[in-house]
Amino acid sequence: MMRVLLTGGAGYVGSHVALALAEAGHEPVIYDNLSSGHRSAALDFPLVEADVGDREAMLRALKGHAIEAVMHFAALIVVSESARDPARYYDTNLVRPLAMLEAMREAGVARIILSSTAAVYGQPEAVPITEDQPTRPVNPYGRTKLALEGALESWRQAHGLSYAALRYFNAAGADPDGRLGEDHHPETHLIPNVLAAALGRRPALELFGDDYPTPDGTCIRDYIHVSDLAQAHLLALERLHPQKGHIYNLGAARGHSVKEVVGVCRQVTGHPIPVEVRPRRPGDAEVLVASAERAERELGWRRTLSDLPTIVETAWRWHRAHPDGYAD
Ligand code: UFG
Repeated sequence: MMRVLLTGGAGYVGSHVALALAEAGHEPVIYDNLSSGHRSAALDFPLVEADVGDREAMLRALKGHAIEAVMHFAALIVVSESARDPARYYDTNLVRPLAMLEAMREAGVARIILSSTAAVYGQPEAVPITEDQPTRPVNPYGRTKLALEGALESWRQAHGLSYAALRYFNAAGADPDGRLGEDHHPETHLIPNVLAAALGRRPALELFGDDYPTPDGTCIRDYIHVSDLAQAHLLALERLHPQKGHIYNLGAARGHSVKEVVGVCRQVTGHPIPVEVRPRRPGDAEVLVASAERAERELGWRRTLSDLPTIVETAWRWHRAHPDGYAD
């Protein structure tokens, strides 16, 4: 049993990980400024409402709850916004977390799991993408995440921090028991936007580019169920080695095109779902598919929910029950 502080624990991935931690017998403490998280996504776990950059508040939370490990999810995640306003992304995704690392050092908390991203690879050299491929992010979002991974390595060398940086591919789906879901403002992700069109909340899905050199012309992504993703966090935490750093790609190791996703959403929802083709979205790689081999081998990670129909069914259940998202 471990007491784990989750920054951004009221957000989409963080809330699912908190639930998985609790179900495995750990004690999650949510640390969130609620700028984009939802109070009700913190469920009935202890919630510290504060900013990652507030070193004193972080120190109080770490000591007050006798925290043994941190999982860091709090971040800005919209690629296009990061290109328009890099200062905000560097501040939130890199500078503020450094205050957190210093508070951890002061409190003697030496374990951290980082929510990182496939965006650190940029346009990949080859697929499936292994962890030793070159990291050449093509936008500020990916650069800030890669820089924070680098900071963890520096704190490891200087101060003996243990870390795992988890590079997510496309987190999708919702808690299979319907307790949590995905609710971003604005929503930029494919599956929630397709389901919003199914619910009539959007006139159509805007499909960004159908002229890619892929079999049906649309981008291919690796969709990983958020609850399978959550299990990888537990395994990474349990298998952290003292003073070691680990990097894992987390994906289903299978690619689906945007058109395939729309097709599965039509089947699952029974709605026709209109599509309007738009120009390509700047910065979208044509194909991103993970090699999950390292996480399977070193962590014993197995996926049980990451087939596309199950991802869409769980997401659809939540969106249908919460057409306006969380109440708060
Ligand atoms: N797409 C649409 N219409 C939409 C939304 C998305 O056509 O309304 C397309 C995108 O162009 C892309 C695919 O659906 O081809 C998936 O897009 P998402 O925005 O759902 O996901 P991304 O692959 O762009 O982003 C994910 C993570 C980011 C991360 C990125 C790494 O959400 O945090 O992978 O490349 F940076």
